[in-house]
Amino acid sequence: MKKTFLNPFLIKTRPFFLLSLLSLLSLMSIQSQVQAATVTIACGAVGAEFELCKKHAEKWAQQTKNKVELFQSPNLTNDRLGLFQQIFAAKSDQIDVIQIDVIWPGLLGKHFVDLNQYVSKSTVDKHFKSIVDNNTDAQGRLLALPFFTDAGLLYYRKDLLEKYNQPVPSTWEELKKTATLIVKNEKKNNPRLLGFVWQGKAYEGLTCDALEWIDSYGGGTIIDGKTGQVTINNPKAVKALNMAASWVGTISPKGVLNYDEEASRGVFQSGNAVFMRNWPYAWPLGNSKNSPIKGKFAVAPLPKGKTKSGKHTGTLGGWNLAVSKYSKNIKAAVSLATYMASHRTQMERAPHGYNPTIASIYHNKKFIAQNPFVGKLNATFSNGVARPSKLTGRSYNKVSNRFWNAVHSVLEGRTSAEKALARLEKQLNKIRKRGWAKNK
Ligand code: GLC
Repeated sequence: MKKTFLNPFLIKTRPFFLLSLLSLLSLMSIQSQVQAATVTIACGAVGAEFELCKKHAEKWAQQTKNKVELFQSPNLTNDRLGLFQQIFAAKSDQIDVIQIDVIWPGLLGKHFVDLNQYVSKSTVDKHFKSIVDNNTDAQGRLLALPFFTDAGLLYYRKDLLEKYNQPVPSTWEELKKTATLIVKNEKKNNPRLLGFVWQGKAYEGLTCDALEWIDSYGGGTIIDGKTGQVTINNPKAVKALNMAASWVGTISPKGVLNYDEEASRGVFQSGNAVFMRNWPYAWPLGNSKNSPIKGKFAVAPLPKGKTKSGKHTGTLGGWNLAVSKYSKNIKAAVSLATYMASHRTQMERAPHGYNPTIASIYHNKKFIAQNPFVGKLNATFSNGVARPSKLTGRSYNKVSNRFWNAVHSVLEGRTSAEKALARLEKQLNKIRKRGWAKNK
């Protein structure tokens, strides 16, 4: 017997019940029409970046009942910048949330919303202050939420160093000696083995590598961050560049002058290099299931220059999340950016080599257990050298472009380091005279 049909309460209330159910449903559908937004996010695509971004963005969409689309970005930071400059110059609403390089706030900032208007101070304050400052403009507008932080590292083949009884090199000179020794003796086992791979292509990656060599010799940061003086033309910088030029065709192949991060990783990960300079993202990939070097390598701070003022250093990199002011769904876009930069998402990204920007995560037991190498490299992250992007703002790309071209010409053997740096100094002073902020 269908008891419920006889239930007097139901019989009596059914018309009202149906009516209110219908109005509730229509209200919900209006609400979902109002609230559900499609948000497009442009993440990076180096290493595991794209897959991780997709996974987390889709989680956010599911939780918030919004839709998310992923914009495929090129690999190189320079190519990405060029593309985004075009998109934003057209005031296009094609991208709502964009992953930006630490060097971009001055270059693209005018296209972004001030996140201080949308995100609570307590959420922002969880992130490293230095990165928040980097992302804040002169008017106090917060242009992006910190997403992950990077620093240049030395990757080395533990097994080969052990086999030849060599210590982890502390100076660049030692690195050259060890690389030469191992390659020579390993020739019969692996004729393709190279000594040292790094980022020698004429692009932003070379700016990072060359700044490391120069800073490791105490040769400054191209432009003094406090005074704005162009400091690049100095004997220590000359020494550092001569040293790097001496690697090309000896411990590094000539082809390194066309290598970016992924090209270097390709060589190292297939077991064909003793040393590599790269960012932390290469660590978990090198240790992935099918990697030929799984368990055979380790990381250390980059070597220092062999002078009194020599130091271990690493260029600071990293990426942040900004919201386009041309977005039609600013609130949903901010919600996605906040979700992506959150404690939880950063914890999940960390084992893939994307270092958190939330200070407390570094004290989290689970994080320490899952990422033992981060603790070991704490000094590298805290002593890192910043590129002069904050000071030069809108001129940064021009400054960096002149710098990497000068370095590249020395590495190619086309110019002497002295001549290249003297010329670079003049070029940079010209830009400075016009005012860093006035250039594009
Ligand atoms: C990494 C760094 C970024 C840097 C780039 C250079 O992605 O995080 O800051 O500009 O490499 O190639």
